[in-house]
This record gives sequence, C-alpha cells and structure tokens, in this order.
Amino acid sequence: MAKTILVPGGAGFIGSHTLLALKAAGYTPLVLDNLSNGHQDAVLDANFIEGDIRDEALLDQLFENHAIDAVVHFAAFIEAGESVRDPMKFYDNNVAGSLNLVRAMVRHGVRKMVFSSTAAVYGDSTDAPLTEDLPKVPINPYGQTKWAVECMLRDTAAADGLQAIALRYFNAAGADPEGRLGERHDPETHLIPLVLQAASGQRDAISIFGTDYDTRDGTCIRDYIHVADLADAHVKALEHLFTQDDSKVRGRRGFYDAFNLGNGQGFSVREVVDAAKQVTGVDFTVKEEERRPGDPAVLVANAEKARTTLGWSPSIPALEDMVAHAWNFMGQS
Ligand SMILES: NC(=O)c1ccc[n+]([C@@H]2O[C@H](COP(=O)([O-])OP(=O)(O)OC[C@H]3O[C@@H](n4cnc5c(N)ncnc54)[C@H](O)[C@@H]3O)[C@@H](O)[C@H]2O)c1
Repeated sequence: MAKTILVPGGAGFIGSHTLLALKAAGYTPLVLDNLSNGHQDAVLDANFIEGDIRDEALLDQLFENHAIDAVVHFAAFIEAGESVRDPMKFYDNNVAGSLNLVRAMVRHGVRKMVFSSTAAVYGDSTDAPLTEDLPKVPINPYGQTKWAVECMLRDTAAADGLQAIALRYFNAAGADPEGRLGERHDPETHLIPLVLQAASGQRDAISIFGTDYDTRDGTCIRDYIHVADLADAHVKALEHLFTQDDSKVRGRRGFYDAFNLGNGQGFSVREVVDAAKQVTGVDFTVKEEERRPGDPAVLVANAEKARTTLGWSPSIPALEDMVAHAWNFMGQS
C-alpha cells in the first residue's frame, strides 16, 4: 500500500513542488498548512488540511485518523530580515511549532522526519565550498531557529528513536519545468523572481548590492539549486529513512543526519542578471549600490555527502534553465 506522508508547509514554494515528486514516486501526501504564506491551489489534487503545527489537538487527531508513515516538514517562517525585527514570531513558529510536531510524532509512534534546514546555519563562514561539519554560527534569528530544530531532532533521535534527516538548502530557484507551479512569495526577497519582476515591468529596476567583492566579477556568489532537484532530494531522503528500519536502526536507537543541497557551482548576482536579460530578451534597469551588511562574498555548497549517501545529484544545474522555468511560470514566455 502507498505510504502516507504528512507534509506540513506543503502549500508553500518548495513543499508544493515536493508534493509532485512524492506522488510521482508512489507516496500519498497529506498536506497540513495554515496558509500564512502558502497557496491552497498549489497543492493541486493532494489531500489538504488547513491547520497549524502549533495546534496540539489537531495533530493528535491527524495522527489518530491517518496511518502516517513519515513527515516531511517545511512549515516555517522564512524571511531572515523579518526574523531580526521580530525574533519571537520566528522562535514561536519555527521552534515551538516544530517541537509540538515532533512531540506529537513521538506520542503516536511516527519516527521518520525529513526537515527543511538551510545554509543559513553556517552564518557568514568564509569557507567555500561549505561542508556539513563546519561550525554552526547563524547570524540571524531565522538561521538560529533552524539550527535549534536540528539540535532538537539530533537529541530526540538519540533519546526517543526518532529517525530524522535535515536537508540544508542553499538558494531554491526555478519552477516546475512543466509550468504547473512556481514561486509566489509575498513579499518576495529572492533574487531570481525579483530580477524577473524587473524584466516584466512589475518593478522599475533591480539593485546589485556591492560590486567590489573579491569574486570573479565583484558581485556576491550564491549557490542556486532548482526546486525540482530539491523536491527529488526529499524523496531520496525518505527512501534512505525507510531503509534504516531493516538495516541499522534497532530498538529505540534513532538516526539523525544532515545534508547540504546545492549545485556546488556558484553564480554571481551579475550572472543572474545577465541570464535573466538573455532569457527574457528585456534590457531592464540595473542599479549598482553599496554592499549590505552581513552579505558574505561567496556561499556555495559542497553537496558531495548527498551524492554519495542519498544518491542525489542536481539534474537541472544550468542557471538559464532555472531562470527560464521561473519566467515560464510568470506567464511571460
Ligand atoms: N526558499 C528557500 O530558498 C529556502 C532556503 C533554505 C531553507 N528553506 C526552508 O524551506 C522551507 C520551505 O520554504 P519555502 O520557500 O517553500 O517557504 P514558503 O513560505 O513558501 O512555505 C512555507 C509554508 O509553511 C506554511 N506554514 C508556516 N507556518 C506554519 C504553521 N505554523 N503551520 C502550518 N503551516 C505553516 C506556510 O503557509 C507556507 O505554505 C522553510 O522551512 C524554509 O525555512 C527555504
């Protein structure tokens, strides 16, 4: 019988794309989302429950009424700047919400979780590319909340037999190659959709913050990973957790591991702008501005561990494809 996967946050950008991958792999996703930032129509034909991971009674009811085999947990607030202005909002949702969810899982004997973590746990590390074992020194409350949840999963795995994988995404980008889904954050803070908004005339111009970094063209370099490749990694991580049962995990001994998910190949802000001009054919206005505080020059993943352990590798690594898929979703191509 198809395994049922609870997907908190499944109406969001990465969650909704992962629903497609889960269904294609033969799983039955069950979405739980409070629609604080998600879109109900993004779950397409998946089962959807409107609700909050902080609602203990709702979680008990869900775990009692559905034979849930694993949880793929995306539900969180994601905007780092807002987390600096309102940290308690982030600790409440991201940390207390995840605690409530993991408690309910333990109560109901559901042991497997894939968790959305982030490259922000590494802070402004100057190492490049970044490996999983580097110190975790987040520089904003958002990153702190994600690292706090990772610690909780690690410790609960040791004490209560939880089997958890944290996936540390770098910059999620692109859209479903078939055009069914895309990125609809509001407010939008991610570079590729912002650049495409400039191309479509939704904004007057795009700003490049800092052109004097020690990089190949002076602008910051980031690691963009196609959202369909992220979705695929969740399926691979689940498969890894499902094989743990019979092989390595005995009794109450749990399992916890963390993997970087990135292209391993960085693209500069200027390269993103140029790719957007090429894909859209629009010569939009670009403003060069001062550096922003707290922006490291280079953030690139070493994703070798995900390759070797999960058998995952990006299948859409080209920046032009990520930009083209995002543009296609915007209905402009
Ligand atoms: N987008 C990126 O580049 C990126 C990078 C690293 C990590 N992440 C992480 O990946 C996850 C998904 O990111 P995204 O870009 O899809 O964000 P998103 O905002 O589109 O999706 C998050 C979803 O969670 C839901 N949600 C939030 N709080 C909830 C709660 N208490 N109960 C139920 N639902 C709740 C929102 O309504 C939304 O649908 C997040 O955990 C984020 O921290 C994203």
